[in-house]
Amino acid sequence: MRIHPEAQERNTRLAALAPAVAKALSPLGQRAFFPKGIPFQAGQSAGCKINATIGQITDGAGNPIPLAPLKEKLAAFPPKDAFLYSPIQGRLRAREAWHAKLLKEDARMAQVALPNVSSGICHALSMAADMFFAAGETLIIPDLYWDNYEQVFLMRLEGDYQTYPFYNAQGGFNLEGLRATIATQGPKAHVLLNFPSNPSGYSPTPVELKAIAEVLIESARDRVVVVYCDDAYHGLVFEETATSKSLFFDLAEAATSGRAPNLIPVKCDGVTKELSFFGGRVGFITFGVAKDAAAILSDKAMSLVRAGIGSPVGLSQYLMEEELLDPRHEAEFDRLRQILAARYRKLKDLLSQPTPHWTVFPFNAGCFCLLELREGLNAEAVRQALIHDESVGIVSQGDRYLRLAFCSLHDDAIEPLVEALRRVCEKN
Ligand SMILES: Cc1ncc(COP(=O)(O)O)c(C=O)c1O
Repeated sequence: MRIHPEAQERNTRLAALAPAVAKALSPLGQRAFFPKGIPFQAGQSAGCKINATIGQITDGAGNPIPLAPLKEKLAAFPPKDAFLYSPIQGRLRAREAWHAKLLKEDARMAQVALPNVSSGICHALSMAADMFFAAGETLIIPDLYWDNYEQVFLMRLEGDYQTYPFYNAQGGFNLEGLRATIATQGPKAHVLLNFPSNPSGYSPTPVELKAIAEVLIESARDRVVVVYCDDAYHGLVFEETATSKSLFFDLAEAATSGRAPNLIPVKCDGVTKELSFFGGRVGFITFGVAKDAAAILSDKAMSLVRAGIGSPVGLSQYLMEEELLDPRHEAEFDRLRQILAARYRKLKDLLSQPTPHWTVFPFNAGCFCLLELREGLNAEAVRQALIHDESVGIVSQGDRYLRLAFCSLHDDAIEPLVEALRRVCEKN
C-alpha cells in the first residue's frame, strides 16, 4: 500500500499522541490526509486583498454573482452564506453551534473537539467506517438494526457482522449479549449502537446507558474498541424512564481523560430528525478522543470529504445555524417532540390491547415501533396485503417483524392502521 508522505506524517504524529487510535485506522484511514491543494491554499489566502485561488465565481470582492431566479428565491439570505463554498470541514458557525448544543446537554463535551460537517448522518457513518473499518472486519450490532448499515459496512467495505439479541428477558437492553459478543473478538472490535433505535424505538434507561458504557470501557481494556454512536433520533424520547442522553458522553469522558486509551467513540448525528430538516443533509462526525488526536482525525475526515462529495452544502448549514441560534429553537424542538409524543401514546395505548397476532417490542422513543408476528404469519405477505387490501404502507423486516413509523402518521390514522393490521392478520 502506498502512503503519501503527508499521510505518513499524520500517522506518525497520531501514533505518538494516541497509539491505539493510529493502530485502529483502516488502510483507507491510514492513506487519508487533507492535501495542501486548492481549498487549503484558498483558506490561507482568505484575507488577501487580491485572491485568485479558488474556482468560485465572484465579483472580485468575495461576493457571489448569483443568477436572478435563484437570487430572488434566496433573497432573505446573505448572498455569501447562500451561494459560496463551505469550508471542507464545515462552516465554523455550524460546527460551533452544534458543539454548543451538545455542551449544553452535557458539560463533558468541553473536552471534545468541534465536529466536522458531513452530508447527512449516513455520510458521517460512512466516513467513520472508511476511517476505521477494514475489509474482512466484523461489525457488532444488535439483531434489530437499521438495514442501511449493511450497505455501509458489508456491501461497501466488504465487512461482516455479528449480532446479539437486542432485548434481554426482562425487555431491557441486552447488555450481556453485547458483552459476550465483544468478548469473541480479537484485538480490534467495532460496535455500533443506535439509541433511540431504528427500528425498535427503544432508548435505554439512564442506569442501562451507564452499564452499556461500562461494558464498552471494560471491553476496551484488552483490545481496541471503535464505537459508532448513531444518534440520528437523539432527544426524541417520550418516557421519564428513557434517557435522553447520548451514550457518547460517557464514552468520550473515558477516552479523553485517558481512562480508556483503547476506546474510540465516534458520534454521528445531525439535523435530519433532530431539526426535522430531512433534505438539508447536514450531519456531524465527532471524534471522542483527546483534542490533539481528534485534530488529526478531523484532517483525515476532510480528505474523505474531498475524495467523495467535494465539500458540504453551505446553504443548509447556514439555515441550521439560524435555527439553532434562534431563541425559539428549544421550544420548537419540544413542540416537535410533543407532536410525536401524542402519536406515541395513542399507538402505545392501541397496541396494549391483547391480540393473538403479534407482540410489541418495548418502545419509548424515536420514530418507530416494531411488532413480531405470531407463528404462521409472514411479514412480507402481511405488508403486501396491507397495501393491496387496505391501502396501508408499513415496513417488513425479516420474516416476522413489522415496523410502524408513527412519526409519519396523523393521530387520526393510527387507529385505522392498527385495525387494518388486525383485519389482515385475521384473514391470513
Ligand atoms: C438509525 C439511522 N441512522 C442514520 C440515518 C441517516 O440519516 P440521514 O438521512 O441524515 O443520512 C437514519 C435515517 O433514517 C437512521 O434511521
